Amino acid sequence: MTIQAIAFDAYGTLFDVYSIRELGDKLFPGSGVELAGLWRDKQIEYTHLRTLCSMYKPFWEITQDALVFSCKKLGLNLTLEAQNALMGQYARLQAFPENLAVLQELAKQGLKLSILSNGNAHMLQSAVESANMQGVFQHLLSVDVVRKFKTAPEAYQMAPDVFSLPAKNILFVSSNCWDACCATWFGYTTFWVNRQAAPREELGVTPHGEGRTLRDVLEFVEQHRNG
Ligand code: LAC
Repeated sequence: MTIQAIAFDAYGTLFDVYSIRELGDKLFPGSGVELAGLWRDKQIEYTHLRTLCSMYKPFWEITQDALVFSCKKLGLNLTLEAQNALMGQYARLQAFPENLAVLQELAKQGLKLSILSNGNAHMLQSAVESANMQGVFQHLLSVDVVRKFKTAPEAYQMAPDVFSLPAKNILFVSSNCWDACCATWFGYTTFWVNRQAAPREELGVTPHGEGRTLRDVLEFVEQHRNG
């Protein structure tokens, strides 16, 4: 498996979706961690349900729906101001500290880099700018174009199409084990950034590589550059 290009998941992998818990805690003291966790889980659940039922709507709107549900579930009074503040923060999520240097190093090595995300174009653009990652990626691929979220094959097909490479020559990197597993089924070479030291999904498929931070991708790529 010769790696010639890399497609990165965005949320949770490049941008820290759980960093939202600080603002959540300010708005709803003591509930930030629980809110951030439930919000993320619901957001992903809604992408899967909407794709299964062919009821697509953009990730930004799904993210908002998931926030509203999560606050109701946790008994938190989500005012319009609080909603705007949390969604505003979501548009400017912090990147994990090691990410920019790792991406720059991979680009320097001649690898073609892209994002392949559920996020719609304006979300990805805004997150990339906030993280000073402009110029690192050749493509910001949003599933919005195919109107199906990962794990639909049409969504995963976007990177092979744009790089004109077979999926096995593209490394798909995600911190979501489900995403890394399903990308493996699709045919990518895959790396799971297991930031939370989580157990593997019981899906009968294992990502080709695993590490704790994006830095661990460097070593994997080094080992798989030349077959
Ligand atoms: C994404 C979500 C799955 O960026 O994290 O596509």
